[in-house]
Amino acid sequence: MSIDVKDLHWSAGRRAIVQGVSLSVAEGETFGLLGPNGSGKSSLLRVVAGLRPPTAGRVTLGGTDIAQLSPRALARRLAVVAQHATTETAVSVLEVVRLGRTPHHGILSPWTATDDAIVAAALSEVGLSDHRDQLWQTLSGGERQRVQLARALAQRPSHLLLDEPTNHLDIQHQIEILRLVSRLALTTVVALHDLNLAARFCNRVGVLQDGRLVACGTPHEVLTQELIARVFGVAAEVAPSAHHGHPHVQFLMEDAG
Ligand SMILES: Nc1ncnc2c1ncn2[C@@H]1O[C@H](COP(=O)(O)OP(=O)(O)O)[C@@H](O)[C@H]1O
Ligand SMILES: [Mg+2]
Repeated sequence: MSIDVKDLHWSAGRRAIVQGVSLSVAEGETFGLLGPNGSGKSSLLRVVAGLRPPTAGRVTLGGTDIAQLSPRALARRLAVVAQHATTETAVSVLEVVRLGRTPHHGILSPWTATDDAIVAAALSEVGLSDHRDQLWQTLSGGERQRVQLARALAQRPSHLLLDEPTNHLDIQHQIEILRLVSRLALTTVVALHDLNLAARFCNRVGVLQDGRLVACGTPHEVLTQELIARVFGVAAEVAPSAHHGHPHVQFLMEDAG
């Protein structure tokens, strides 16, 4: 199912943070949300996730306004991996990932072997099966991010929102996580600050500047020298990679002038 965002606004107090964003993410698409620090990526994701009510505009999942869904119904469709996920300290990896099954259970639907299988598959997908009994507080930053992704996968959502999921990862794990995310059949929006990772793994990207969507399209269409200079303030050369054909951005380490 698609994600449709229509003329979305969100203000914190009197300050307009997200300003008139409209975008559609097609079923199964991986959509990258780009923009400098403070441009509103996390704020937009929080509103799309239903964690903040919009000041104006709306978000629909496959045509259903998220404002019409209970938190539980929304959590069965949409999973979120936040930028700075925290968890109770004295829990194991397995317990965190099992939390992903919460929206699927009620008093009348006990835990089953299917849930165990889903949790085991999620841990395996992020390469953490061997860490299942390790305590959350003893994990590295990168492992914590992979556990949060496993929790989201265990939720078995149709939609996935990720806020800079590669932040604490070394380059090998950044690529592994994004390759995994891009191959999932889920409709995904992922905030990223690495333009080259976005160009490689996203079907389309959108660029935020001061809370406004200033560009949206394929990485090839969006990631131009002109846009990078205008929005990020850095001079760059952009050319198709000889290896994979996606645009490759090379920063020239100079001001855009
Ligand atoms: N709850 C809030 N109250 C006041 N200002 C906020 C709040 N949340 C975000 N902001 C501001 O909104 C802007 C966008 O922040 P954010 O969405 O975190 O950007 P990004 O994720 O792109 O770095 C920043 O200037 C930030 O200070
Ligand atoms: Mg952010």
